[in-house]
Amino acid sequence: MSEKPDRPRNPWDHIFARQGRVFTEPHEDMPEIIRRLKERGAVTVLDLGCGTGRHVVLLAGRGFSVFGLDASPEGIGEARRWLAEEGLAADLRVQSMAEKLPYDDSSIDAVVSVQALHHADAATIRKTVGEISRILKKGGFLFVTVPKLRNQGRAFEELEPNTCLPLNGPEKGLPHHYFSPEELREVFGEYDIEDIHLDARNHYCLTAFKKE
Ligand SMILES: C[S@@+](CC[C@H](N)C(=O)[O-])C[C@H]1O[C@@H](n2cnc3c(N)ncnc32)[C@H](O)[C@@H]1O
Repeated sequence: MSEKPDRPRNPWDHIFARQGRVFTEPHEDMPEIIRRLKERGAVTVLDLGCGTGRHVVLLAGRGFSVFGLDASPEGIGEARRWLAEEGLAADLRVQSMAEKLPYDDSSIDAVVSVQALHHADAATIRKTVGEISRILKKGGFLFVTVPKLRNQGRAFEELEPNTCLPLNGPEKGLPHHYFSPEELREVFGEYDIEDIHLDARNHYCLTAFKKE
């Protein structure tokens, strides 16, 4: 009998392998985000934790020079196929956002990260936020969404205060850190925070600018 392969380390890789483009419609705030980016003359935009690329494709189609990074090879592979279907291009990398980001200091006009940054413990998230700050230009724009609701009936292990590890379900083994608005303000202390609001899926949406 053949052995079953190990479960991929990032459960989203498994989800994308099975389901392909899980998210197809852009986040509800994206039309306004794009309007703001155009108004500010943004050119380079990084989608951190881009998954199968719904925002990479949208932003590339609107004329931005787009970078996308995700730990899932399946996600990035699907994003590449989607871009090709649309006749678009972007710079996509398979990498964990827990590592040093592969972009130069002060080289990016805007970072968007939708439902991805919370997939780590608090110390790792702070390291990633430090990397975002390194690569963003002064005055650069940031749009981040993270979930408000905890666990939603799933069994979990609490790794540390506010960081949970689902013990079953499709995201089994992937850390989920649950921010309060206060913690978001503290973690993004290097930013002028414009707004934190809840979207239709109960995710906190933060818009901010890196301080000049
Ligand atoms: C809920 S999906 C969101 C995908 C995409 N942002 C979107 O809105 O369609 C979460 C994404 O975070 C990615 N992810 C989880 N941990 C990561 C890590 N350490 N580094 C980079 N990406 C990660 C997953 O691979 C997955 O693509």
